[in-house]
Formats: sequence, C-alpha cells, structure tokens
Amino acid sequence: MPSGSGDSEEAVAPPLRITPLKTVYESYFLIGNVAPRQYLSEDETYILTAHHNAATAENAMKPQPLQPNKGDFRFEQADAIVDAVLAAGMKMHGHTLAWHQQSPAWMNEEGVSREEAIENLTTHARTVAEHFRGRVISWDVLNEAINDNSANPADWRASLRQSRWYQTIGPDYVEIVFRAAREADPGAMLYYNDYNLDNRNKALSVYNMVKELNEKYPNAGGRPLIDGIGMQGHYNLQTNLSNVEASIERFSSLGVEVSVTELDVQAGTDYELTEAQGISQGIVYARLFNVFKKHAETIARVTMWGLNDDSSWRSERSPAMFDAEFQPKPAFFGALNPDVFIAQNLKSGAKSAAKQAEAHYGTPKLDGNDAIWNSATEIPVNQHLTAWQGATGTARVLWDDKNLYVLVTVHNAVMNKTNANPAEQDSVEVFIDENNGKTNAFEKDDGQYRVNFDNEASFNPASAKSGFKSAAIVSGAAYTVAMRIPLRTIKPANGTLVGFDVQINGASPQGMRQSVAMWNDLTGGSATDTSGYGMLKLVK
Ligand code: XIL
Repeated sequence: MPSGSGDSEEAVAPPLRITPLKTVYESYFLIGNVAPRQYLSEDETYILTAHHNAATAENAMKPQPLQPNKGDFRFEQADAIVDAVLAAGMKMHGHTLAWHQQSPAWMNEEGVSREEAIENLTTHARTVAEHFRGRVISWDVLNEAINDNSANPADWRASLRQSRWYQTIGPDYVEIVFRAAREADPGAMLYYNDYNLDNRNKALSVYNMVKELNEKYPNAGGRPLIDGIGMQGHYNLQTNLSNVEASIERFSSLGVEVSVTELDVQAGTDYELTEAQGISQGIVYARLFNVFKKHAETIARVTMWGLNDDSSWRSERSPAMFDAEFQPKPAFFGALNPDVFIAQNLKSGAKSAAKQAEAHYGTPKLDGNDAIWNSATEIPVNQHLTAWQGATGTARVLWDDKNLYVLVTVHNAVMNKTNANPAEQDSVEVFIDENNGKTNAFEKDDGQYRVNFDNEASFNPASAKSGFKSAAIVSGAAYTVAMRIPLRTIKPANGTLVGFDVQINGASPQGMRQSVAMWNDLTGGSATDTSGYGMLKLVK
C-alpha cells in the first residue's frame, strides 16, 4: 500500500481487530456465556458466538419453565436455545435440575410426602436429562444446596440449606437427584453448583459432601457419582483471590473437575462505572483469569453470566466484560491478556484515578467535640465494595509536626461487635502510606488503624499501636471515632503528599460484616497494597 507521506488527509486508525476470547483460551478451557432467550439481537448473537464456545440457558432450563405443572413438560423454548447453540458449533451446558428457586411449588410444597417428593424430583431429573441427552455436555444437577455460614463445615448434612427439598425428603435428596441424572444421561458430566465458594467454610462443606458421596458411589455407571463442582463466581472488587484459588485447589484434590459457571465482577453503582472502577474491575478479571490458567488442568469451562452490562442480572453494578453498547470494557482486555493488562494498568490506573483531599494544620483534643475540626475538609466515605449498601460516613483530617488526626463520623450503623474478628465489627479503618509510595506490599511507612464504635483498636502491623490514641462517641445510629496517628517515618511539611484512605465496616444484626464503604481504594486490597489509596495534601 502506498504510504501517504505529505498527504494532507488525516491518518485513520485501522479497525480494532480483537482476538476472540475463546481462541486465546482454546488450549486451556471452554469459554461460556449465557443464552438469555430464544431470540437474540444481532449484537448479542455476535458477542456470544464470536467470543464463546459454550453456552448456558440463563433461565429456560430451570425447573419452573420446564415443568410448571405436574407432568406438563414444556421444552419448546429450551429446545430452540439448545438447537441454536449447537448449530453455532458451540457446546451446551444444562442448568439446573434441582434448585430451591425458580421451581414450581407443587413439587415439594407443604403436604407432599417424602415418597411423592422423591417421585417428583426423580421424574423431573430423569425426563429432562433424557430429553437433552446427547445435546448437553454437562448438567448442574443440584444448585445452591449449602448454607452460607456453616457453623460446622465438617458436618455437611447440618450445613444443607433448609430448602423444601430438604424438608420433604431429607439430606439424601442430594444423592437421589445425582443418581437419577446419571441413569438418564450417563454421558453428561454431573456438577454440584454453588455461589460464594471462595468462602472457605462453605467450600469445605461442599468438599465434604462430594467426597462422601463419591466414596459411597465410586462406580455409578463406571465412575464416581459427582464429576464436577461449579463455582458460580459472582465476585466483586473485594473478592480475595487467594480464597478463590484455595477452593479450586481443594476441589481439585477430590479428583473432580471444576468449572467457573456464572462469572461476573460487580464494580459500579447505579448503572455507572467510573474509569477507575473500570480499571479495578479489569484487574480483578485479569487476576482471576491468571488463577484459572494456572489451574487449567482442573478447570473445564469458564462461563460469564451476562453478555453485557445492560442485560446482566446485576446490571446496576456493571459487572460484565462488555458495556451497554456491546463495546469491550477494560474487564474484557484484562481477561484477554492478563499480564499485559496488569502491567499497563496497576500503577498508572490507581495513581491517576486517586482522589486528593487537603488536611489543614492544627492539633485537636480527641475527647468531646473540639471546634477546630470544623476547619477541616469533609471527605466522603461512601463507595461500597459490597453489594450491601450499609453504613457510610465522612472523615476530617488535621496534622501537626508529629501526628495525623482523623475524625470519622459514621451513619446508619447497626452497632454490633459480637464477631471475634474486629474487621467484622462496626468499625472504621484508616490506611496510611506515609511516603505515598503506592507499593503493592506494605512497607515500614504503611499502617492500618482500626477502631470500633466502642473505642477498641487493632493495628497492622501490631507495632503501629505505639503512640496511637483514640476516642469514640455513640449517638443513636451514628458514631464518631477520633484518632491520633503518629507519623513514624516522615517529617511532615506544607505540601507533603501522604497516601490515605478510610474504610467503614458495617456489621449485620447477626454480627457478620455485610458492608464495606471506602473513600478511594476500591481494589479490596488496602490491607496489603497501598497502590489504590487516595492522597492527602498537608497544607499550613
Ligand atoms: C438468574 C438469572 O440471571 C436471572 O435472569 C433470573 O431472574 C434469576 O436467576 N445463581 C444461579 C442463576 O444459579 O440461575 C441465577 O440466574 C443467578 C444466581
């Protein structure tokens, strides 16, 4: 092609050629997404078929649509979806034969005996699995049967959700439905599927259940009864990736395969995703795909739950890889090429996006309401890392030659400190990176200072306690915490920049942390990594 040197026309960028995600991961695992409906728009069809080689019906193969009344099987919608997916050369996964939601009441309602319930469960599982035999590679046989907070994960039966199936049949409903599915479609890989499997206790309950049932049925049609564990993967910016990896490793040690079955990463609020949130989300996707790649021997399939933000079941939190206009988000590029994405975005993204606030010079009294606080700028602490929009507040900061002073006012707190883990109590945390080094591991100038509404303090590192002082006042559903935090490694001066963030932990009435609100850092990694902190400018 002739080059246009000396040409007055502006150079036009070539169209972006994106490598399909399914091609990048061809030698690792299948890449799936939802088939939301029978008829898809052109854009939806493009995203689904260009980047994915597997699909899961988002709703059409659940018990309610397939058998709304006893004996009244309706396969039309589901058949249309399955046929279209297979015609596109993709694999189909079945979801789901038994669940406590989107299931008709008649199967197991009050008054249905154990025998009848078993009959209803096995008839449904058999009929459906036989119907799709040869067209699906695998089934979520049982969905979400384990409780979120098992007190004793060693006893998986006691950890079972008190669902209608459990109540009508008892704990053996689990093996009953798996056996029916194996008989009806011996070629399909049979999965147990659940969410929050990055929670170590919940994962342990699932591990114990699958272990026991596979030991009891080592030869159910030539192999153990349960072939795989599905980790739904509804994650957020705070998800701890080492917990995700620990569960993959735990399940893998059972000799079963693992699939990520409903991946999304909630990051925004109110249908808005800021640029910084988009990058943080991309980093989470990138890190997740690095974990999945590392365990590709175990992982059969990674399925996303939503073709774009607009059609996602959690659309208000913009969790998908494509935006409402079907454009690829940073999340997509994070998944596509994790190492490059992380290298390009981790520091620059966090730095350029960091908020900045001023701290004025002054030395307040901690007890009581010292009027000097009124001269300090108010910093909002109201960006939730969690889906639950719990306690929020504001912070004010002052400094003098030796200390930073932080006053945090918290609203809408439940005021619970029963949890033995101080981070799960109603409490505020201040993060300080004295040299604003934005390092991805804590250094000696970095510290985390936590105080609950009852003025009980905890520190990371423990040595950060030296010279620290605090006071707390409760008033109705609000409380304030005032802290004096010694500056340990810098000599503060007019214009000094200090890395800084504030976190508000909100407990539920049961004493579990249900919400986390931040000023700036939405990476979820503030306790070990200072690169996402906001910045304070000390002014005199
Ligand atoms: C969701 C669908 O995405 C929504 O369209 C529907 O209204 C509710 O169910 N866990 C599961 C999925 O196993 O079936 C759920 O799908 C999301 C949570």
